[in-house]
Amino acid sequence: MSTNGRSQTLYPTRIDISVEVRTQVIAILNQTLASTLDLKTQVKQAHWNVKGMDFYQLHELFDEMATELEEYTDMFAERVTALGGLALGTARVAASQSTLPEYPFDILSGKDHIVALADRFAPYAKSLREAIAQTDDLGDADTADLYTEVSRTIDKRLWFLEAHLQAPETTSKDGTTIQEKVKAKSK
Ligand SMILES: [Fe+2]
Repeated sequence: MSTNGRSQTLYPTRIDISVEVRTQVIAILNQTLASTLDLKTQVKQAHWNVKGMDFYQLHELFDEMATELEEYTDMFAERVTALGGLALGTARVAASQSTLPEYPFDILSGKDHIVALADRFAPYAKSLREAIAQTDDLGDADTADLYTEVSRTIDKRLWFLEAHLQAPETTSKDGTTIQEKVKAKSK
């Protein structure tokens, strides 16, 4: 990835991981850092702008998710520096290097925000799983473990998002929809 004119020179460290491995792992981590920072701001965008009857629970859920992502940015950046690298964590680097699409600005409802976030958490989760395999293949079990930890929670968050979409919210216990009930009453 571009380092804004800075070559990714490694700082001296006594860590027993080769320069070749560290260089590759740092590049993977910095890519993840950019996407994580981008995703965090997108979740905040949803937190601030969601509207509708489910406003409060979604407003709170999105804030929790953003706080988690903030913690992950710190964990990825500090793994970069533990490996002797330069963490690239400004908003400008994030915007230019993130692999995620920009967040839509013309949506309001909870459902639309959930769909938009699920459409971003899914590729982010995929990239984490790829990074687990890549860093494991490179022999850096600790970075692979970090990715595994984050990946598990991101999968859980994708489930939380998708659970809002997976059942017809208007279906009652006897299987009839509220719309059908309203129709029957008005006859
Ligand atoms: Fe807030």
